[in-house]
Amino acid sequence: MQQVKAVIARAEGAPVEIVTVNVPDPGPGEAVVKVLTCGVCHTDLHYREGGINDAFPFLLGHEASGIVEAVGPGVTEVEPGDFVVLNWRAVCGQCRACKRGEPWYCFATHNAKQKMTLEDGTELSPALGIGAFAEKTLVAAGQCTKVSVDARPAAVGLLGCGVMAGIGAAINTGGVTRGTSVAVIGCGGVGVAAIAGSVLAGANPVIAVDIDAKKLAAATRLGATHTVDSSATDPVAAIRELTGGFGADVVIEAVGRPDTWEQAFYARDLAGTVVLVGVPTPDMRVPDLPLIDVFGRGGALKSSWYGDCLPSRDFPMLVDLYLRGKLDLDAFVSEEIGLDDVEAAFDRMGRGEVLRSVVIL
Ligand code: APR
Ligand code: ZN
Ligand code: ZN
Repeated sequence: MQQVKAVIARAEGAPVEIVTVNVPDPGPGEAVVKVLTCGVCHTDLHYREGGINDAFPFLLGHEASGIVEAVGPGVTEVEPGDFVVLNWRAVCGQCRACKRGEPWYCFATHNAKQKMTLEDGTELSPALGIGAFAEKTLVAAGQCTKVSVDARPAAVGLLGCGVMAGIGAAINTGGVTRGTSVAVIGCGGVGVAAIAGSVLAGANPVIAVDIDAKKLAAATRLGATHTVDSSATDPVAAIRELTGGFGADVVIEAVGRPDTWEQAFYARDLAGTVVLVGVPTPDMRVPDLPLIDVFGRGGALKSSWYGDCLPSRDFPMLVDLYLRGKLDLDAFVSEEIGLDDVEAAFDRMGRGEVLRSVVIL
């Protein structure tokens, strides 16, 4: 057992605190990781606000890179010294989803069995089974994916959540490929990643839609061919106009609201695909659309779950593309901050000032 500094959310809505936590030695199938970087994601804030569950206190942070420090008995996936990106879905390989070849729907994903605790012994709930706003964290070895040591940790750590969710929404869920016309509604960290993924796959055009000019500028930096300010222009009409009057083959909704979902629904071409990657709140409802429109337009209405990714396949591949200059992960790192700046980073995230704030340890 060892003691490290970490950021916790003690009670619903209370500001985060830096405290000392106990990290057990790794048991069978577990690894202790020395965290190098951890991005600040909306889900951390949702935990703090009680929007996910009420298992306080939470150990926040889940978008991380680090170095494996020690592994428990039976671990073969990684060894001490490996540079890894952490993932929150370590698939079981045994369940129905895994056996039918769709491990991204695995319903038996695993985390470390032992608990990290506060100094008084109170058990912590690690965010998404990771808890990486901490100098060290304990995870299941399957949550560690080894990637090239040449990569900048702050950039590739973002593949652990938001950037993978966006790239995967385009490539894995949307099936975007060369020549696909794509529109992305909502250009925060996730939406801009969907744009970068679409560009990587050879999509054309790649249309960025947002109500914030700063976000549209970021989308252009990542390769969007056109931008639409939907606070001033009807995005459905604009997307149709930019796609020869038809609508886009794939429209990715990266806000998580009924009105933007409805825009996505009508902005796609006949037989096109809508991908919902923005996370709605439980009280939101599907817009009341005429069933004849659903029937008449055909195509597919999908949601994307962690970018339908397979970390062991996708993380090393995307890191290699980054190292070869094909994928600008650095563009997502808006600022590098310390553990004591997480609360202020939540505020900047809420004001839409950053794509990602990344804690450097
Ligand atoms: N129309 C278009 N864009 C909008 C609208 C709207 N009505 N409302 C908000 N936006 C834009 C914001 O301006 C912002 O650029 O959506 C973007 C949301 O981005 P972020 O807040 O940075 O969130 P991000 O990290 O990208 O995540 C997007 O995916 O993982 C989920 O919980 C996350 O639901 C959130 C979504
Ligand atoms: Zn499984
Ligand atoms: Zn996240």
